[in-house]
Amino acid sequence: MRLSVIGCGYLGAVHAAAMASIGHEVVGIDVNEEKVNSLSQGRAPFFEPQLQEILQSGLDSGRLSFSTDMSRVHGAAVHFVGVGTPQQAGGHAADLRYVDAAVNELLPFLSPGDVVAGKSTVPVGTAARLAELLAPTGATLVWNPEFLREGWAVQDTIDPDRFVTGVPSGPEGEAAANVLRDVYHSAVAKGTPFIVTDYATAELVKVAANAFLATKISFINAMAEIAEATGADVTQLADAIGHDPRIGRRFLGAGIGFGGGCLPKDIRAFAARAEELGRRESVNFLHEVDAINLRRRERAVQLVIDGLGGSVYGKRVAVLGAAFKPHSDDVRDSPALDVAIRLHGLGADVVVTDPEALDNASALHPQLTYVAERDDALRGADAVVVVTEWDQYRREMSPSHVNGLASGRVIVDGRNCLDPAAWRSAGWTYLGMGRP
Ligand code: UDX
Repeated sequence: MRLSVIGCGYLGAVHAAAMASIGHEVVGIDVNEEKVNSLSQGRAPFFEPQLQEILQSGLDSGRLSFSTDMSRVHGAAVHFVGVGTPQQAGGHAADLRYVDAAVNELLPFLSPGDVVAGKSTVPVGTAARLAELLAPTGATLVWNPEFLREGWAVQDTIDPDRFVTGVPSGPEGEAAANVLRDVYHSAVAKGTPFIVTDYATAELVKVAANAFLATKISFINAMAEIAEATGADVTQLADAIGHDPRIGRRFLGAGIGFGGGCLPKDIRAFAARAEELGRRESVNFLHEVDAINLRRRERAVQLVIDGLGGSVYGKRVAVLGAAFKPHSDDVRDSPALDVAIRLHGLGADVVVTDPEALDNASALHPQLTYVAERDDALRGADAVVVVTEWDQYRREMSPSHVNGLASGRVIVDGRNCLDPAAWRSAGWTYLGMGRP
């Protein structure tokens, strides 16, 4: 099928390349010329496993192209809208200007029967408003949220847990849902659930899923706070409650909490939208989820202060990790980088390392010192802080190796990803999050 993808950020670039990889002919459109040039030359503008490969093979096959020229979308049967919906500068609500601009610029190139599929995460009610804009063109709007995880984006796009498609009622909606079934034919044919619903439900599914995941993480982080007050071990607690299949162990990793381009902004936008709808009390707990999450960053900083005997001033601190999670170079709202910034603000001599995220981190916070090699960060460190659980720090860094590099013997495990016994027996003061 001929498809267009408007917006070539994390979501759009992966979607375009993934759709080409399953056999469609795809044009990706973005206003950013640099991004389009880079994609057209087969260079992924961000780190995402497998993206480079499917991008190159899509370009080589002739089925994938990128352009800044919106008229190139003409003739596509489905137009995916995957532009960003960042947090508004002065508040918590989502900034919809890019979605509105994308749809408005698309209008002149739509033909009756085309399907416009919104993928951006939007406040509930947005699709109904955009559908009115589209009505005169004869195109049908559907809302088809994306659940991809960074680091697994290609796999999640090609082979997701489920498809959700919000459609208008009646035959027009049914026909549009069938068009999307055709787009995702390979996954649908093997039985991936394909849920057809109304616009509001589809929009809400996305924010509800992210709100649930954020709540799960903050729940276990709240338990970590209680564990800290009682001497209990939150990781054993998580293992134990996680055996209950109704609870499940995934997303019960206590530590410095969630960050990234989605969970933080999405729960804030959801709370802001609920307030507009007169339902503030229904999601009031999300403010608590956010507050618990932010407290854990402060807790990690406090552990470094405690470990260094009351002050980090003038002390050299190796911060291992800058990305908001491993397998990503994304530093948007990264708890890891936030911990580094806070330590720097307290006068520590902070050295940050990360296998993928240094360019993004140094562009955002040039005041920190960055080194590419982990061991260069560790050399001479009075304290070591693990804030992103890359394998390089979690599995491939033995206490005896670090003994030969660091000056101090204090390690703060901001992701509860190290073996406390191994570090302690090598002479280290190990401080975890919610662990005795
Ligand atoms: C999330 C959703 O998972 C995805 O479905 C949605 O489409 C976009 O938002 P992503 O932002 O890529 O995906 O990251 P995710 O893997 O969900 O992790 C989010 C944050 O939570 C990371 O900072 C991670 O370190 C943290 N986290 C995750 C924890 O602190 N503990 C956990 O147990 C799991």
